[in-house]
Amino acid sequence: MPRHLFLPDVFWATEDGGDAECAASRDADRWMRLAYSDVPIVTQWDDGEGDGREVPTSSASMPTMVAAMLGDLDVEVGMRVREIGTGTGYNAGLLAHRLGDANVTTVEVDGGVAARARRVHRDAGLRPRVLHADGAGESLPAERSDRLIATCSVLRVPGAWIRQCRPGGVIVTPVSTLFGDGAIARLVVGGDGSASGAFTRSSAFMRLRRQRYRAPSVDDYLPGEWPGDAPRASTSLDPETFRGSWLTFLLGLLVPDLYYRRSPEGGGWTWWLFDTGVTSWATVDSVRGAESLEVRQSGPRRLWDEIEAAHRWWVARGRPGLERFGLTVTADDEHRVWLDDPRRRAQARQR
Ligand SMILES: C[S@@+](CC[C@H](N)C(=O)[O-])C[C@H]1O[C@@H](n2cnc3c(N)ncnc32)[C@H](O)[C@@H]1O
Repeated sequence: MPRHLFLPDVFWATEDGGDAECAASRDADRWMRLAYSDVPIVTQWDDGEGDGREVPTSSASMPTMVAAMLGDLDVEVGMRVREIGTGTGYNAGLLAHRLGDANVTTVEVDGGVAARARRVHRDAGLRPRVLHADGAGESLPAERSDRLIATCSVLRVPGAWIRQCRPGGVIVTPVSTLFGDGAIARLVVGGDGSASGAFTRSSAFMRLRRQRYRAPSVDDYLPGEWPGDAPRASTSLDPETFRGSWLTFLLGLLVPDLYYRRSPEGGGWTWWLFDTGVTSWATVDSVRGAESLEVRQSGPRRLWDEIEAAHRWWVARGRPGLERFGLTVTADDEHRVWLDDPRRRAQARQR
């Protein structure tokens, strides 16, 4: 299925570290080269509102990631598949080509994006069912599919997805944390309303619309001057050492409801940690090469201590890789992270 058929005239591809605009009408060669490069291609910013380019909100995912996730999905002829996040329609087009139009339903929350995907499918001779709806809602057709694939990430796997799959069915979804990017989870649906399985690879996907997080202002945490009454402490763990790696995702799973911001400070970085309950904050001053970094913590949660405890837990287990971790979502919506075996829960305790 040619990828360029699904791409709009103007898109933004991650090239040379930036999101460079590319228009087929102005630079057809470059447009075609990017269409067949292994890069994600942004097709919408800020939910299509205004002319800004703050947050990418729709895209064609990176081809190797599309292929890897379809590999995880492991479809066979005759299966019924539901996709959440139609975007350009490319992934649904691949599925419809393989399984037949009648076996593929794709759900897109953005009306304009859904309408465009329908048009593009028709022009490509495909007719999977494209629904304009919130794919995490309960209002979708109740029929159970054999496979469900999400191409937007979730902080929590919606219970509706488990109910929309038959027992033994498979859910492939990017899972993310507020602390760090994410990973693809491949969950097998149980007969008891739960779903469980391993993480297969790191990923960075845009978040399911209803699970986006808007951080409160720093003033809500610290109304006065930093550091307020937060006592001074020190750490030998530099957060810069795990920034941008899958480990931030794992730490975010082990220490939930936590996010960070960082700001440049005297040649290094100050990390600000906040809890989503707006009760606690911490700062860590990262200075390159320093053995001891200054820490300040305030509030009932000692957020940096929690990160350190989770990191210690991981080191004590021999620094296991991402693929040894998995997730179980119980019928009553509890999310349990495990190491090697669903019975071996990953839980870090503070000293
Ligand atoms: C990475 S893009 C999807 C890529 C797409 N599968 C393709 O082949 O081009 C993510 C899409 O998820 C959509 N989305 C976000 N939240 C959603 C929701 N709650 N229900 C359905 N779609 C959603 C976004 O609007 C966006 O178009």
